[in-house]
Order: sequence, then C-alpha cells, then structure tokens
Amino acid sequence: MSDLSVTFTGIRFENPFLLSSAPPTESESNILRAFEAGWAGVVTKTIGVHPVVNVKGPKTNFMRTDPASGLISMKKKTGAALHSSWNWELISDKPLDWWIGRLARLKKAHPKKVLIASIMAGSGSDEEMRHWQMLAKACQEDGADALELNLSCPHMDRPDMGSNIGKDEELISVVTQVVKEVARVPVWAKLTPSTTDIVVEARGAFLGGADAISSSNTFTSLPVIDPETLEFEMNVEGLVSTGGLGGPAILPLSLAKMAQMTSAFPDEEFSGIGGIAEFPHALNYFLLGCGTVQVCTAAMLDHAVGPNVVKNLVRGMEEFLEKNASRGWKSLEDFRGIRRDRIVSHSKIKRPDEAHYHGGYDEEAPAAAQAKEAK
Ligand SMILES: Cc1cc2nc3c(=O)[nH]c(=O)nc-3n(C[C@H](O)[C@H](O)[C@H](O)COP(=O)(O)O)c2cc1C
Repeated sequence: MSDLSVTFTGIRFENPFLLSSAPPTESESNILRAFEAGWAGVVTKTIGVHPVVNVKGPKTNFMRTDPASGLISMKKKTGAALHSSWNWELISDKPLDWWIGRLARLKKAHPKKVLIASIMAGSGSDEEMRHWQMLAKACQEDGADALELNLSCPHMDRPDMGSNIGKDEELISVVTQVVKEVARVPVWAKLTPSTTDIVVEARGAFLGGADAISSSNTFTSLPVIDPETLEFEMNVEGLVSTGGLGGPAILPLSLAKMAQMTSAFPDEEFSGIGGIAEFPHALNYFLLGCGTVQVCTAAMLDHAVGPNVVKNLVRGMEEFLEKNASRGWKSLEDFRGIRRDRIVSHSKIKRPDEAHYHGGYDEEAPAAAQAKEAK
C-alpha cells in the first residue's frame, strides 16, 4: 500500500493535494464537500477586514483554444480545449466575523484535514500591520492549522494590497515578520509571479520568517479582444482592467518561477500552484522540490470543488509509486526535488561542436568579454 502522506511545515497531510484559495474554498459547504471528496487540505478564500466590492457582472471566465483555427476565446465552442481561467475577483466578500466560528466548525468536523486560512490586509501604516496581526490571531484561535499571506492578488482595487506588496521585497519581509510575531502556527507566503526575479521576493519572505512559499498566484493578464465587436471579451460597459490568468496556460510559466526559487533555497519548503489538473502536472512541482501542491481552475470546472480532480491526483500518485517501487520509492520524499539540478544556464547546454562554442562569445577572448559584460 503506497503512503501518500507528507509532512509540510511540520503539519501532516494525508496526501499532498490541496485546494488553493479561490471560489472552491469560499464557503463552509464547499470546504466540507472538498474534505469529503479527498483533498487533504484547503486554503480558504482570502479573508480581509476592508470593504470588498466586486465589479458589476461576471468575475471569472474560461478561455478555450479552438483546435481548427487556433483562436483563443471565452466563447463556448464544441471541441475547444481549456486554455486558462481569467478573473478579476477580489478576496472574500464575507467579513471576518462570518468566517470565525465556521473555521472552528470545519476543523471540529474534520480534525485530520488541514485548514489553512488565507489572509490579507494593506500596508504602509501601523493600522494595516495591526490588521494583519488581528486576522492572524482570529484565524488561528478559531482553529486554522496554518496561515497563508496573500501578497499576490494581481488585481486589488487598493494600491497597498496584494501583488503590490508582493512586488516589494521589504514590504514582504515586514508583513511576514509582523504576522510571525503573533503566529503560533506556520506562516506561508503566497507570492506573485508577475515580477522580474522572484528569488528576490522569496528572500524577503524567508528573511521575514516565512515557513514556506506558495506560488503561483494568477499572472497579470488581459482577456482577448473579440475581432468582430472589437470589445474585450470580459468588460464592464466597455472597460477592462488587468486581471489574473490561471489554468493550463500558466503551468510552464509557473514551473519556471518555482524552479528559480527551489534552486536558490533548496532547504526551504514550497507549495506549487499553477495549471494542475492531473498527477503528471503535479509531478513537475514535486520533481522541482515542492512538498505540497494546490489546485484552483481545474477544481472550479469539476463540480466546483474538484471531486474527480482529487480522485485522479490520488490515483495517479498511487500508480506512480507502484510503478517506481523497484527504485525503492515509497513516498514523495523519495523523489522530491530530483530534477532540480537539470536546470542550468543556456550556455551549459551541449552544442553540436563543443570545441568552437564559447558561451556566445568570440573564441579569442571569451573571459575578457564576459568580464566586460559583468561590469
Ligand atoms: C476566480 C479566482 C479567484 C481567486 N481568488 C484568490 C484569492 O482570494 N486568494 C488567493 O490567494 N488566490 C486566489 N486565486 C488564485 C488561485 O488560488 C491560484 O493561485 C491560481 O488560480 C493558479 O492556480 P490554477 O492554475 O490551478 O488556477 C483565485 C483564482 C481564481 C481563478
């Protein structure tokens, strides 16, 4: 019998598959259904203390690729394959008071499942820092097993929140530190992929005391323009703002971000998110060093909480362990991170004629040229 359990930031999970913070975890009934379906843990929809007012009209839609034309569109077309989700939804519109009591009930009903509270406040004032601490204390006192800091929503209406914090390594550090001051449970920092070098922000989180990093949140993006109407496929009275891309399209992008971090911080813990629907997708994150993975888009499209998605992930991992039993692999720890060292700089990839290749420099003075470039 395979052992799918993992210990991540000191917490035992029956398997490494979690629902990420999003609509699948926005209500008590969804979270109960998710636990019953087999998810080992859930990260709640992000909880905050400021007034949350979403845009008029739909908050999420799904883009699909038509195999005949290659066009990507939100318009439903038979035979089109899922490309991505696009959303501009804000955090939970339910107040903290709504969540408190419910977290306790969920935990009481499923003591062995892991309940992670995603929280968000602003930045730039002592009052906002107190909000972070207040949210952290309230959620942990109500039974949350860990806290995930949303430093990454790419479309907050307030400029002092979400990915605007996540783009500033110092703010990341300060917020993480402030939460760590009051936290009795592990603190995960959820980072935005929409920066130049995510290693910089990851360093900020670890300096602030983060126990793990979750990545990716959605990528900053626009919906496509309808070629007939010349309107964005998602808009409110003709206007659009940037929103977040998730689903299959972001898997390779998110993997690149994750690989940068797991290579830079091989001894730290990471929860992989982005484009996971089947076990082979999750396997990528495990082979890069992640100890858990989280799912959103695929679950949204499968009865709102992904009962079939989690069944397939669990079965896929069981089959993978059985197939590789002869290598002595009994659990995720036996293969976690084993492909991290295959990622090297471009110049380290073999050329047909190695003798005449000098990393893109002339043969004469490659070292001098490189030194000049480094200045
Ligand atoms: C409609 C929608 C709402 C989301 N809301 C949140 C949120 O409140 N907090 C958060 O940290 N991430 C939120 N996310 C991001 C997801 O948790 C996840 O990081 C992202 O969708 C990438 O995973 P996926 O490719 O499996 O969708 C949301 C995503 C979607 C599609």
